[in-house]
Amino acid sequence: MLLEGTFPDSGAGFTILSMISSDFRGVDPAQLSPQGAAAEVERLVEVIGRHDRLYYEEAAPEIPDADYDALFRRLQDLEAAHPSLRAPYSPTQRVGGEPKQEFPNLEHAAPMLSLDSSYEPGDVRRFDQRLRKALGNEKVRYILEPKFDGVSLELVYENGILTRAVTRGNGRVGEGVTENVRTIRSVPLRLREDKRAAPPFLSVRGEVLMCLSDFHALNQRRIEAERYKNPRNATSGALRQLDSRVTSKRPLTVRTYDVLAIKGHSFESDMEAMSALKAWGLPTPDPESVKLAHSVAEIADYHRQFATTRDSLDYEIDGVVIKLDDLSLRPRLGSTSHHPRWAMAFKFEPHRKVTRIRSIRTDVARTGVLTPVAVLHPVKIGGVKVSRASLHNREELDRKDIREGDSVWIRRAGDVIPQVVERVQEEDRERGEPFRMPAKCPACGTDLVEKGPFTACPNHFGCPAQLKGRIVHFCSRNALDIRGLGEKAANLLVKEGLVKKLADLFDLQKEDLTALEGFGEASADNLVEAIQGRREVQLPRGWSPHALAPSLRRALRGRRRVRLANFVAGLGIPEVGVTVAGDLATHFRSFAAIRDATKEALEEIPGVGPKMSAAIRGFFDDPAVSTALDNLIAKGFRFSPPDGTPAGEEGRGWVGRTVVLTGVLKNMKRSEVGRALRKRGARITSAVSARTDLVVAGSKPSESKLARARELDVKVMGEEEFLDVWPPGAGVEGED
Ligand code: IVH
Repeated sequence: MLLEGTFPDSGAGFTILSMISSDFRGVDPAQLSPQGAAAEVERLVEVIGRHDRLYYEEAAPEIPDADYDALFRRLQDLEAAHPSLRAPYSPTQRVGGEPKQEFPNLEHAAPMLSLDSSYEPGDVRRFDQRLRKALGNEKVRYILEPKFDGVSLELVYENGILTRAVTRGNGRVGEGVTENVRTIRSVPLRLREDKRAAPPFLSVRGEVLMCLSDFHALNQRRIEAERYKNPRNATSGALRQLDSRVTSKRPLTVRTYDVLAIKGHSFESDMEAMSALKAWGLPTPDPESVKLAHSVAEIADYHRQFATTRDSLDYEIDGVVIKLDDLSLRPRLGSTSHHPRWAMAFKFEPHRKVTRIRSIRTDVARTGVLTPVAVLHPVKIGGVKVSRASLHNREELDRKDIREGDSVWIRRAGDVIPQVVERVQEEDRERGEPFRMPAKCPACGTDLVEKGPFTACPNHFGCPAQLKGRIVHFCSRNALDIRGLGEKAANLLVKEGLVKKLADLFDLQKEDLTALEGFGEASADNLVEAIQGRREVQLPRGWSPHALAPSLRRALRGRRRVRLANFVAGLGIPEVGVTVAGDLATHFRSFAAIRDATKEALEEIPGVGPKMSAAIRGFFDDPAVSTALDNLIAKGFRFSPPDGTPAGEEGRGWVGRTVVLTGVLKNMKRSEVGRALRKRGARITSAVSARTDLVVAGSKPSESKLARARELDVKVMGEEEFLDVWPPGAGVEGED
């Protein structure tokens, strides 16, 4: 455990433990000599920098958050007591002060050129031939890297300290976004020097990115109209914020891949430069993803491998970059004004193609919003046949001026619904009439209403299309996860009048289903079973499952409690996706409490603003929703407690408690106790700190933990005493 050891990178004999405990001992920073304070500040800056790197860059934190916070607070306290020690590269100085009026124009240390690029293997062959010809008998060695689809950036370090961050701009001059880039935790404010001394001047080029998972989470928290189209737009927007406090809340990261200029250091190869960047603590591409190649065949292999794995990466790449690795050979090839001749991008097959629109129709979603959909002459994009694509909404359709019969670009990215990107200009073709949204709902005939850019059917509880959408959503993976209830089945159930409201799902009998087209005995059985499996069975008082017939017992075992978060997510509350549903469940802990929460109570949840709270309240206050929910709840659900929250009575008292478990327990496994406590809302940490509420000590406990607990006056319980407050078996049952 690193906490108790010597920190390898921090110099002789220094232990983190001494630093954390000095905080807990409460040594007043003002009492420290200037030299003592300076030494501690210096070490803290380094240690926090290291933990930032481990956390943000390598996703391998070595200490619990609470210990990190303690280090950070200690540094803040020291800097407050000794303001002259507050260095611009201190981690406390990442987020700056007042918003700016504009960004200064700054010249790059060297031109930031573009890359020549192509999708065609033939172009790569020709590139290779050109290089070989120009270099005569020299052995040609390429370095291959992923081509990050982000925003290009220059970072300048003077004497190891970050002094400038500049966007690409026109390649010669860009915008100085230094304050914003300082907030990106994977960007070191000061270069590491433990492996290599920092050069007096270093300018590196890199790409600012937003991970896809972070991007989706960010978008989830935004309302429809304010969502970003893709991670690149979100990144670019974040980087160009005039208020760096806003940027600091955006999950950006950086990959550096090129030395633009350097003084006092030189490299022979790009590979060597890359390892120097890494040694200086700069975030570089994953070493596994960088390869050397000596032939076009090897390049093609690399490209093929990435083309198939790109969709599984957490960031977007749009090709691979091929560069001559030997830096001494590059000047022999030179550059055009636009791109160097020693490098090119080998892009992936586009996820977009051109086709013609057969007709435009409208789909009614579960929210009542009408989506115009283009019915296409089918095209294959990335191996998948596409015959329909979304046109988003009325405003978007008007803006792009897309009509039936038009030729259009279609884009398909990952598993997202294909979209119509834009119209292909065709000079001499007679075009059809501009598309008009219908006046009445195509599903129920109700007069439609306009809501901003959207057109919607207001008949929420009578419109069959909305009901169908609600059923599909309620049964989807992130909600009740009822297999076998997709679009097709939902359509039939609604059309045949078998389901008029969500609650009716739970009254479906096998015979109802076998009468429908496409259902056999087995599929009908499975669906009924899957639906019933989501309800809690009420056994008569005094009955034990053991008294039941084996077949019934088996059926019961197959039943899973529904997670409260999933149930809430399935209701289709406006603005509430999986993440917010999870937050609501964790915060309020019961469905009744969520349903009754006031706007103010809702807004206590971080990330829930006035718009969202109004939407949630509006949903529950709608009398029709209320009746529908009463009907649904009457079907009998018992929700499993959300993680981090107490399970009814047994959980009482553990919420928010920080517990350390040490030594060997006789009656249960430490991991089981940990899991059960966590489920009841406790935090389990490995180190004893001032925040620890309880240490549970089995046999052979850690002496140092006990000593620290004594020192900090933290309560310590033996196993027997603990069992009194925590009966064995309580809550060790699985959740699902
Ligand atoms: S090398 C002039 N390597 O792609 C050569 N560029 O279309 C220096 N890019 O805006 C660039 N990943 O910012 C290089 N691994 C990588 C890259 C990369 C992304 C960007 C670059 C440029 C664009 C060119």
